[in-house]
Order: sequence, then C-alpha cells, then structure tokens
Amino acid sequence: MQPDIQALEAEIKEFEISSPEDLEAFRLKYLSRKGVIPELLGSIGQAPKEKRAELGQQLNALKKLAQSRFDEKKQEFESGSARYAAATDDITLPPAPAPVGSLHPLTQAMSEIKTIFMRMGFTIADGPELEDDFHNFTALNFPPEHPARDMQDTFFVRKNEEDPSEDQVLRTHTSPVQIRLMKEHPPPLRAIMPGRVYRNESITAKSYCLFHQVEGLAVDTDISFAELKETLILFTREMFGSDTAYRIRPSYFPFTEPSLEMDIWWGSKKGGQWLEVLGAGMVHPNVLKSVDLDPQEFTGFAFGMGVERLTMLWYGIDDIRLFYDNDVRFLEQFH
Ligand code: DAH
Repeated sequence: MQPDIQALEAEIKEFEISSPEDLEAFRLKYLSRKGVIPELLGSIGQAPKEKRAELGQQLNALKKLAQSRFDEKKQEFESGSARYAAATDDITLPPAPAPVGSLHPLTQAMSEIKTIFMRMGFTIADGPELEDDFHNFTALNFPPEHPARDMQDTFFVRKNEEDPSEDQVLRTHTSPVQIRLMKEHPPPLRAIMPGRVYRNESITAKSYCLFHQVEGLAVDTDISFAELKETLILFTREMFGSDTAYRIRPSYFPFTEPSLEMDIWWGSKKGGQWLEVLGAGMVHPNVLKSVDLDPQEFTGFAFGMGVERLTMLWYGIDDIRLFYDNDVRFLEQFH
C-alpha cells in the first residue's frame, strides 16, 4: 500500500495544537515509536525496490516537518508558562492607569487671562527679560534716586567689568515692554504684554525672586479713566465670576497719574482678606514724551497684574513657592 504523503503533510500542518495536551497527542500520533511516521519508515522494506529511495526521502521530510512543529510549539508553551509562573502580580487585573501630564497652573491661568483680553480686542506683545536701565526705569519716569533702583530689589547684570554704566537689569516688571511697544507702533494701541519678572526679595509664602506679570496698555486720542476702570472690572468678572468682591484704591506709580490699585476679596472659613492683584493708572505725560508722543494729543491707560496672585485666588493656593517646587503631588491636582 502506498502512503498518501500529501494528505499526511497537510494533516501535520493543520493539526490543532493549542495546549500542552494537544502537543502530547501530536507527538504520540506522528513522532513516537508507534507513531505514523516511524511506522511508515519501518515498512519501507515492503515497498517496490525502485520506489524505496524516493519514499525514504519523502518520509524523512515529513518527519522533519512534524519534529519542527513539535519543537516550535513546545518552546512556545514552555516560555509562556515560565513567564506565568514568575509573575507575582495578578495579571487578570486591569492595567494601572498611565500617568498623563497637565499644564502648570500658572500656564492655565495665563492662557485664561490672554483669552479674556483678546476677546476685549487686545493684542499680545512681548519684550526681553534682560533690560537696560532706560527701559526698565528712566523712560518710565523713575527719578534717579527712586528706591526701586536699589540693590535690594533689582538683580543687576554686569556686561562690562570696566564700565558699570553698561550694567543691565533682569526686568523688575513688564512695564518696559510698554516703552518698546510705543516706540515700535504708533497709536492707536491696545495690547497686553505677559512675561517673567525678577526681584531681589527674600523668599516667603507671598514673594518669590521671580514671578509673572501681565502688562496692559491702551493709547489713543481719547482714552479715559472710565475706560480703564471698566476694563479692569470686566476682566475681574470674567476671570472670577460676576459676584466677586473687588475694590479700587488710589495709589502711586511714577509712570501713571492718577494711579490705582485693585484688590480682590479672598474669602475663607475664618473670614478673609483683601489681596492686591494689580496696579494701574493713566499713562504719565512724561512717559508719553519719552517715546516722542505728544501728551496734548494722546492719552492712555496702563495696568500691571501679578499672575501668581491671580492664580492663587483662582485655584485657592496659599503659598507662592508651590508654583516653583515642581512637586508632582501639587501639580497633578490641576488636570
Ligand atoms: N509695574 C508695576 C509693578 O510691577 C505694576 C504696574 C502699576 C504696571 C501700574 C502698570 C501700571 O502698567 O500702570 O509693581
């Protein structure tokens, strides 16, 4: 009897092996001493002489095929079960959630502030953090002896060891960008200027050596104090809700006249307190003159708000240092 080599080959290839038990059945059927292939090999002698060589080759190829299927599956089961045995975790549990990052609370507040002012028709501008004395102080009408120029508040940067008159400063506020903007663009102007500022102050829950401000400036032929007030009040309502308590107080800045400060009520269970969030005023005539604008023709308002303060109010954070610690336990609360 001639064995059907092709049928056998197909059978070996298609034999379902999905468990170690199937694998044993496969081995018994084809490869064991009493299995199909060894039996056939043993009976080659009964085949007609001229067919023996060919049949031998065919059967050996079948044996190889069965053996390699067997080896392959065996290895698969062994490595799988080895992995299973080594695992100490419960692999039927759902996977642990992958931690995803989130925007820093200051970035989130900053983008909210920008959105509100853009809706009011303000554009966005910026300027350098390393400034010269002219932009940071002189053009903003700081008298030469003004205490803000004191070493206590300002980080000075010496460019030229021989010549201290070339000293620069890490800007102490974003107001110098007003000067740059007015020099670049003739009025009408309506822009905010967000950015980092630096102060040589001791670090406490309320002050840090670096923080962020959003400067605002509007210059045209008929800008009024009423418009300034309305802009600030609208901003406060948009950012904190229409029932937020605020107050506006007279104040002093060299670069505005008159000047004001705005506080927002920080309520708590034990009572609360007013928190100063911004300074503002009508652009001082001397500032307009410093950029060659005629104070008889143009008026303007300006403001500068503290972004950390606003963010602390927005999120109820009571220590400014938290923004700069990079502690994930703090940061992950602001998804
Ligand atoms: N530059 C001031 C500061 O850092 C804030 C400020 C007050 C900015 C009044 C202004 C302004 O534009 O009009 O304390």
